[in-house]
Amino acid sequence: MSDQGQAGPPHAAPPHAAPPHAAPSHAVEIRGVRKAFNGAVALDGVSIDVPDGSFFSLLGPSGCGKSTLLRVISGFESPDAGTVQIAGRDMTDAPPNRRPTAMVFQRWALFPHMNVRDNVAYGLRLRKAGKQRIRARVDELLALVGLEEHSAKRPSQLSGGQQQRVALARALAIEPRVLLLDEPLASLDLKLRLQMQLELKRIQREVGTTFVFVTHDQGEAMTMSDAIAVMKDGRVQQIGSPQEIYDEPRSAFVADFIGDTNLLELDEPVRDGRMTVGGRTFAAPARSAAGGDGGCEALSLRYERVRVGDELDCANVADAAVEEVVFFGGSIRYRVRLDGGGRELVAEVPRTGVETPYPIGAKVRVGWDPDAAIPLAS
Ligand SMILES: Nc1ncnc2c1ncn2[C@@H]1O[C@H](COP(=O)(O)OP(=O)(O)OP(=O)(O)O)[C@@H](O)[C@H]1O
Ligand SMILES: [Mg+2]
Repeated sequence: MSDQGQAGPPHAAPPHAAPPHAAPSHAVEIRGVRKAFNGAVALDGVSIDVPDGSFFSLLGPSGCGKSTLLRVISGFESPDAGTVQIAGRDMTDAPPNRRPTAMVFQRWALFPHMNVRDNVAYGLRLRKAGKQRIRARVDELLALVGLEEHSAKRPSQLSGGQQQRVALARALAIEPRVLLLDEPLASLDLKLRLQMQLELKRIQREVGTTFVFVTHDQGEAMTMSDAIAVMKDGRVQQIGSPQEIYDEPRSAFVADFIGDTNLLELDEPVRDGRMTVGGRTFAAPARSAAGGDGGCEALSLRYERVRVGDELDCANVADAAVEEVVFFGGSIRYRVRLDGGGRELVAEVPRTGVETPYPIGAKVRVGWDPDAAIPLAS
């Protein structure tokens, strides 16, 4: 899956391609999509396969093109180049109302004069569904999002989280093949957002609809997604499961965007299994020692992989002084400076008992297992 972003030419079917009548395994296939606004490139050759029935997130910093890509999938924006297939059919030029998609926005845009039930029923009425069918479907959806008792209320009488559920139920009512969600949780307060993340994931699992979810919050993407496409400057940087992206980031950008990490820049290429960082020599990870990644210029070392103590039994150890201490309760984060070389490292140490943190200025040893450092492509 992690190679999807580099997928080959659009119609080069693999040798054992499924027969044309088989159900497509990808709900959405985006190939070489480009989009510029007045010469400014918003999408720069994006190719993504979204597996059918998955919770798929587009993650990246503000302005990287996430919403534009979602709008290209929904048909509200047409690409300058490239193709969009949905459920196995080419939809590149189809208008939004001809696509089997529905959209949920950050501002939920509920109809203020309609109660919850009528908001949810709206799409079904437009499609002239029968009365009984509408009632049954709306009941089902209200139960799904836990709003049975609020069905007669107007949106203004609901909390933010409840309004969000109405918007979700309304979008799901028409049974889209793909639900597109553009930062739908962004305006909720933190606690409610965390709760809604789990709710949304449960709902997705229950209905089995493919969700394409836009967020700039890496924690949110990690919590909910089966797969994440990390974007930067209109390009896909990496696609993979949350664990793949966290454990095997390919670039410094991805390593840093997904979680906290120390970037170890090498003074010179890895040689004989040794690497030099800030004038000090350490054991390099086996992968780079084996020669395959010898050309890398930097490594990612996650904060939680750095150990701090008086006695450490790892292959890489250095003397250091504590410069900053942050007490998180469940863990303690230290910023230390290595003796001699002057390099800083950040360590996040889990707290299993009632350990008192080392104070600022304390002399400590820091260490890590060589294979905890991940070689990054330059
Ligand atoms: N209709 C438009 N006209 C002109 N420029 C646009 C338009 N829509 C988007 N852009 C530009 O395209 C780029 C990508 O925008 P987009 O909204 O896709 O980013 P985003 O990743 O969704 O950001 P955010 O996290 O802030 O929502 C930005 O530079 C933006 O200014
Ligand atoms: Mg956006």
